[in-house]
Amino acid sequence: MSVRPLLVLSLLAAPLCGVACSEQLLNPMADHRQPRERAYRPSDFYADGLAMRAPPAGTVPRERRTMNPTLTTGIASYTGQVAPNGERVARYASKIPVPVTRDLLRLGRKRYDITCGTCHGPLGDGNSIVGKQMSLRPPPSLHLYANRAPGYIFEVATHGFGLMASYAAELSVEERWAVVAYVRALQVSQNVPVGSLTPDVRRQLEQEHP
Ligand code: HEC
Repeated sequence: MSVRPLLVLSLLAAPLCGVACSEQLLNPMADHRQPRERAYRPSDFYADGLAMRAPPAGTVPRERRTMNPTLTTGIASYTGQVAPNGERVARYASKIPVPVTRDLLRLGRKRYDITCGTCHGPLGDGNSIVGKQMSLRPPPSLHLYANRAPGYIFEVATHGFGLMASYAAELSVEERWAVVAYVRALQVSQNVPVGSLTPDVRRQLEQEHP
C-alpha cells in the first residue's frame, strides 16, 4: 500500500478506534508495534522452535571480530582515557598486522587508485581533479600523515573522518590493509633520501631524471 491511501485510511480510522490504534496506523514503521521475535526466546514461527537464526552455512559476518581485533579495527589497545566526545582513546596499531608482500602492495595500489586516489590523488598528495572541486574541505595530502600509525589510516578508511565517508563497504579488511601498505609506499616514495637507495634503483632514477 502506498503512503497516501494509508494516510487517508488512518485519518478515517482515527476517530473510530482511539489514540493507540491511530498511532499504529499513522506510524506503521514503529517496529516495536510490529510482530517480531525476541532474542533467546522460543518461537513457533520457525520449524526449529528458536527465535534466533544461525548464519547460513559457510558464511561469516564481514566485520567479525576475530581473535585478533587489531586486524578488524586497527586499534592495538586503549589508553584508559576518555576523549571529550565520550569515546575511549585508542592506541593505533604501529605495524600492519598482515604480511606485507609484493602482492599485497599490488592489490593496495589497485584499490587505492580506484577508491582513494580519485580524491587524494594518484601520488597521495591531494592533487586530483575531484579534490579541486571539493571547496568545503579538500582532501588533504596523505604525506602529511607519514607519522601516523598504520592502524590510524586503517581506521579512517574503515569509519571515515569528518567529511570523508567510510570505505568499509567498498574494501574488505584485507583490501583496507593493502591500501594502508600502499599509502605507506607512496609516503616513502615522495620522501626518500637518494643516499638510502640501492645502487641499481639509484642508477635507474638517475637515468629517468637526469
Ligand atoms: C570522495 C573523496 C575522498 C575519498 C574517495 C577518500 N577520501 Fe580521505 N579524505 C577526504 C576528505 C575531504 C578528507 C578531509 C575530511 C575532513 O577533514 O573533514 C579526507 C581525509 C583523509 C585522511 C586524514 C584524516 C585526518 O586525521 O585528518 C586520511 C588518512 C584519508 N582521508 C585517507 C583516505 C583513504 C585511505 C581513502 C581510501 C580508502 C580515502 N581517504 C578516500 C576525501 C576523500
